[in-house]
Amino acid sequence: MKIFLDTSDVKVIRKYCEIGLIDGVTTNPTLMKQAGRNPVEVISEISSLFNSDASISAEVVADSAKDMIIQAEQYHSINKNVTIKVPCTYEGLKACKKLSDRDIKVNVTLIFSLNQSILAVKAGATYISPFIGRCEDNDIDGIDLISSIRKIFKLNNITKTHILAASIRNIDHINDSYKAGADIVTLPPKIFEEMYKHFLTDQGLAQFDKDWKELNK
Ligand code: E4P
Repeated sequence: MKIFLDTSDVKVIRKYCEIGLIDGVTTNPTLMKQAGRNPVEVISEISSLFNSDASISAEVVADSAKDMIIQAEQYHSINKNVTIKVPCTYEGLKACKKLSDRDIKVNVTLIFSLNQSILAVKAGATYISPFIGRCEDNDIDGIDLISSIRKIFKLNNITKTHILAASIRNIDHINDSYKAGADIVTLPPKIFEEMYKHFLTDQGLAQFDKDWKELNK
């Protein structure tokens, strides 16, 4: 049950790394635009914050598999923990197959259907990213999609590909994704904050602090 951070903000990632509960990072072109920096430098800095077991997704942006692979090679040379993110398109799947055949880890992103998941598995993907929030925006049941993928994985004994729930908008998405069989959930930092907060924890803590002070008067 792994947790990734869904951001390209190196400062924020460095801060959350301190807690020791973050297993990786996902980035995308929009998050890179928000960071406003050179993507290769950003991936290089993020990957240096993690050990080799982590996964740092760097997304390639190109029209052909050939060009995706050229970008992938540049990212892959940065650090062993960099995972190449490709879109679930004909060229993206082609790039995924070629990179996976070379033992380069690939995350097939923008997954909205079971058919896409099946092809990504066939292409050797290490991760597939169903987009829960965007599914819901389009009246697709993203959690049911994860359940169906998990069912197919069990029936076919698929263990090499991991289900990475993405486009997470609230804490229910996290719980529901894990319940449906996701291996990993990637979270915007503000949603991670919401995971450990509870008003009863705050209330209980205030009472404990008060009682402790009175005892030690
Ligand atoms: C992660 O891999 C995705 O790029 C990200 O979760 C997309 O989230 P969004 O739909 O909120 O943009």
